[in-house]
Amino acid sequence: MGSRLLPLTKVTNKHLLPVYDEPMIFKPIKTLKNSGIEDIIVVLGGESIGDVVRVLGNGNELGVHLAFVYQNEPRGIADALYTTHGLIKNEKIAVILGDNVFEDSFKKEASEFEKQDVDNCYLFLKEIDDPRQYGVAELDKSGRIIDIEEKPASPKSKFVVTGLYFYDVSVFTILAQLVQSGDRSKNGELEITTLNKLFVKNKKTKTIFVKNFWADAGTRDNLLKASMHFAGYKP
Ligand code: G1P
Repeated sequence: MGSRLLPLTKVTNKHLLPVYDEPMIFKPIKTLKNSGIEDIIVVLGGESIGDVVRVLGNGNELGVHLAFVYQNEPRGIADALYTTHGLIKNEKIAVILGDNVFEDSFKKEASEFEKQDVDNCYLFLKEIDDPRQYGVAELDKSGRIIDIEEKPASPKSKFVVTGLYFYDVSVFTILAQLVQSGDRSKNGELEITTLNKLFVKNKKTKTIFVKNFWADAGTRDNLLKASMHFAGYKP
């Protein structure tokens, strides 16, 4: 709903607010494109989504193919992913959140994920000073992820689970079970962390460390930081 960005989100959908010189959502779409992923389903919800469709169109301008799905209610990121299940047939997928801006792209990781059948899921971590507003990874000595806590008061590490996830086809079976089980957070959301914890528990998850700039641009300070970064200002 973009409530952390009010009153800016009274103007339009959060994902259309500018990150320096382009609408926020262009950044994650370009991250996918630069990682070799061009067939993209955009899950929309909340206000001003007509603006989002108008700005993105069929994706031609960004060199991708787009389809749109509407999530009837704000029921969480994993629920949003589940709305796409009828459109994805036996394919490995990447999921990226519309407010996550990365400097890096992940072509090597995407092609490795596509080829291998050892890991069902890749999670992308970034070390930050204060991770309390995010999913936080607990790591073992070898740097492998062993658990995740969503927005912990006392984080077990400084490694945030960013909003980029690679999943194999098993994701929709697991999601269907989660939807059935009604395992939702207090606000009725099916959390992406609930899903990711299951992959981690099954020890089929690879940890990737994001090298360069990353931000969840969904707060005022981070929106500003992201704009400053892409404008080339050094802190
Ligand atoms: C979501 C996820 C969280 C993740 C973050 C990344 O949080 O729930 O695990 O670390 O995105 O941007 P939200 O921004 O929805 O609060």
